[in-house]
Amino acid sequence: MVEKSHFEEVVYLLWYGKLPTSIELETFKETLKAQRPLSDRAMEMLKLIPTQAHPMSALRTMCSLMGSLDPRAHIVNPEESQRKAYHLTGVFPTIIAAFFRLRGGKEPIAPDMNLSQAANFLYMMTGEKPAPEMEKALDAYLILLADHGLNASTFAARVTTGTLSNLYSAVTSAVGTLAGELHGAANQHAMEMILEIGAADKAASYVNRLLDEKKKVMGFGHRIYKTRDPRAEAFREIANNLCVKAGKTEWLEIAGIVESVMMERKKIPCNVDFFSAPVLYVLGFPPDFFTTVFAASRVAGWSAHIIEQQLDNRLIRPLAEYVGPQDAYYVPAKDRK
Ligand SMILES: CC(C)(COP(=O)(O)OP(=O)(O)OC[C@H]1O[C@@H](n2cnc3c(N)ncnc32)[C@H](O)[C@@H]1OP(=O)(O)O)[C@@H](O)C(=O)NCCC(=O)NCCS
Repeated sequence: MVEKSHFEEVVYLLWYGKLPTSIELETFKETLKAQRPLSDRAMEMLKLIPTQAHPMSALRTMCSLMGSLDPRAHIVNPEESQRKAYHLTGVFPTIIAAFFRLRGGKEPIAPDMNLSQAANFLYMMTGEKPAPEMEKALDAYLILLADHGLNASTFAARVTTGTLSNLYSAVTSAVGTLAGELHGAANQHAMEMILEIGAADKAASYVNRLLDEKKKVMGFGHRIYKTRDPRAEAFREIANNLCVKAGKTEWLEIAGIVESVMMERKKIPCNVDFFSAPVLYVLGFPPDFFTTVFAASRVAGWSAHIIEQQLDNRLIRPLAEYVGPQDAYYVPAKDRK
């Protein structure tokens, strides 16, 4: 899909289970674009979020707020969820870019309806229409992160949906779950690590020290992929092209050494978050915004899962095995020791 398609087409595939005809695709894109603008009320509220808040915290708050502003938020059925899915998928980049600009003391930029989802996202961040290779790189990122089975945030969205709660609540749960560093925030920490290492000759000792201290190296390992993450391979190529063009080959060298130490000592390959980190950095996103870009893509997958859950719902309620004391009994507070 990265080679042949674009994000909007992939979202259509996720939501409708087939690739669109040309006419279907045009209608789909227009419907999605119409959701891009942030209402004045929502913008006022975004401006109330402290600019030192983590961008994922701001996005989670705004996602919840979208539900408070939608008078039909409480109606739960697949058709309503589809409408809400368009809304959140369309508006997430606008929220993220607006928060980015507000944090930098700049006014938010209104979406450009003539641009693709990826190009418009970059345009709202910088005010400049992106070069084709930048648009293509972000589009590839959005495609590769759009869905991935029952990962933690998607599972959280399914659990919330299973209670018959609405799509805004489910996506808010998912954003909160994505924000942790064992899941979506690994991309932020991977880039921060590369920047902190700073030079290729320091990379091996840095990673060895982390491993000696039994710390996790962000951007490596996966619960499902034990040999390789196919998305990481796609990002390796994109990162190579972008970093070479941007004159940032030292990041590639550092990343290469980190990768070989991880393979030599732990036999753990990199995951999607490792080589996608320099890609997002070259595109102009600060590391603490990386996970919001992940969310701007994954919201499409979350929505597809939410609707699928609603079409054949059953409450998700795992059993817990109790392992505490069996002979506990109630003692009045005055008698407790
Ligand atoms: C993704 C992750 C949570 C999956 O973990 P998991 O399947 O539960 O595997 P575990 O955390 O139980 O790790 C198994 C072993 O591999 C090691 N390991 C796994 N990932 C590691 C990493 N990134 N760095 C160093 N060691 C790692 C663990 O320390 C453990 O070693 P041990 O058996 O000697 O104690 C884990 O690989 C990780 O924390 N990665 C870093 C965060 C990340 O990049 N997340 C994004 C995932 S797409």
